[in-house]
Amino acid sequence: MASLKSKKLKSIPAEITVPGDKSISHRSAMFAGLAKGTTIIEGFLPSEDCLCTVHAMQALGATVEPLEEVEGVGLVKLAITGNGLKLKAPTKPVDCGNSGTTIRLLAGILAGQDFKTELFGDASLSRRPMKRVSDPLGLMGAKITGQGEKICAPLTIEGGPLKPIYYKLPVASAQVKSAILLAGLFAPGKTTVVEPVATRNHTERLFTHFGIKWLREDDCVSVYGGQEPRATDIVVPGDISSAAFWMVAAAASPGAQITLKNVGLNPTRTGVINVLLRMGALVTNSETHSDGEPRGNITVRGGDLNATVIGGAEIPNVIDELPILAVAGALARGKTLIRDASELRVKETDRIAAVAQNLRAMGVTVTEHPDGMEIEGGAKLQGATLPCWGDHRIAMAFLVAGMFAEGTTTIEGSECISTSYPGFEHHLDLFLLGDTGAPPIPVMSGIPQPLAEKLSQKHA
Ligand code: S3P
Repeated sequence: MASLKSKKLKSIPAEITVPGDKSISHRSAMFAGLAKGTTIIEGFLPSEDCLCTVHAMQALGATVEPLEEVEGVGLVKLAITGNGLKLKAPTKPVDCGNSGTTIRLLAGILAGQDFKTELFGDASLSRRPMKRVSDPLGLMGAKITGQGEKICAPLTIEGGPLKPIYYKLPVASAQVKSAILLAGLFAPGKTTVVEPVATRNHTERLFTHFGIKWLREDDCVSVYGGQEPRATDIVVPGDISSAAFWMVAAAASPGAQITLKNVGLNPTRTGVINVLLRMGALVTNSETHSDGEPRGNITVRGGDLNATVIGGAEIPNVIDELPILAVAGALARGKTLIRDASELRVKETDRIAAVAQNLRAMGVTVTEHPDGMEIEGGAKLQGATLPCWGDHRIAMAFLVAGMFAEGTTTIEGSECISTSYPGFEHHLDLFLLGDTGAPPIPVMSGIPQPLAEKLSQKHA
């Protein structure tokens, strides 16, 4: 088991460019695999989660050609050639690793295929509820079976002719919305998802990018079946959920300033900016591109943070940032309240219990609630040896907490960080060691042989 250490931060780097957006990278690979022809994806996030999606699309008949690798990060540019909506039956069960997005969105795509597939994942993914996708996809006509009442993975998906549905989401989940909309491509007629609270809209934006017509009327998102995605190159922006770790580190350091370059600024994802503004940090963002997905730079200037309340319709917009925002709460003056966030309990781990336990181990008073927590800010943080339960965002959030603690903070099991942020350790070092004069992560062009071999062996 790997571990990573953190200690009082030495300096805040002027700029950081975080790797590609995870949600958009997953979807790009899926859409590319469903389109006839070749899509080049640039700025791809080569995290383990997203590589699971790439391997899955390969297993389902798409061809993948690696084009460019960044040393210490991985494959950032690739070409995916699909054969259209009709996929090939995989020869063996498909591994979704730790990735909820992979398994849930694939379930939607496989619901419309005329073959049976088995999807499995690691221990954490196998505990997560899949009934939220098997229910609506079942209504559309797919036969999905899983384990126990929560219909956990491994899942068996027997696709078939689908019918469109009008479905009100019982939970605010972009993964569930996306699974249904993707299945909607295979159902003749109009499939509508009603979202009680807006969730990230990357699937809808990629529909537009790939030439698929869809519509939004109030809280309803609809797509018409029978449309085939048209291969179109994509440039993925940096992941604001990864940028959030460094945004909080700077926000909690009075006088510090950092610019996160080329970050996705989709308004369904920028809630973290609003929360930090409310807490007293100075955050500005400037959009440099607005095609497909808006993107630009975020500059954060640190200050003395104040407590805030995070809840209601804001939650889906900050769902992945809540662990690091809880750390911001611990560094702020006053009591920060996170509520309406019971979804945190069914993420890679129970993130409410995990954050509460680790903050307490560092000397913070936390009251846990079924849907969130209250954090008493302002205590002196003590370094500690902490578990992360295989959850990448818990590991990274507490390495940032360690930058504000006395002594050393050790995160055990830190290898899970590669789920979403390859190259994290290099960026962490910029804070812990200061500018060592080491060159930024070098870029390697061309087709890296080991990677090409890895991709071709995986589904030979
Ligand atoms: C994601 C949606 C969110 C988020 C996850 C990625 C997506 O999950 O937590 O990391 O790419 O659609 P839910 O939609 O289940 O809340």
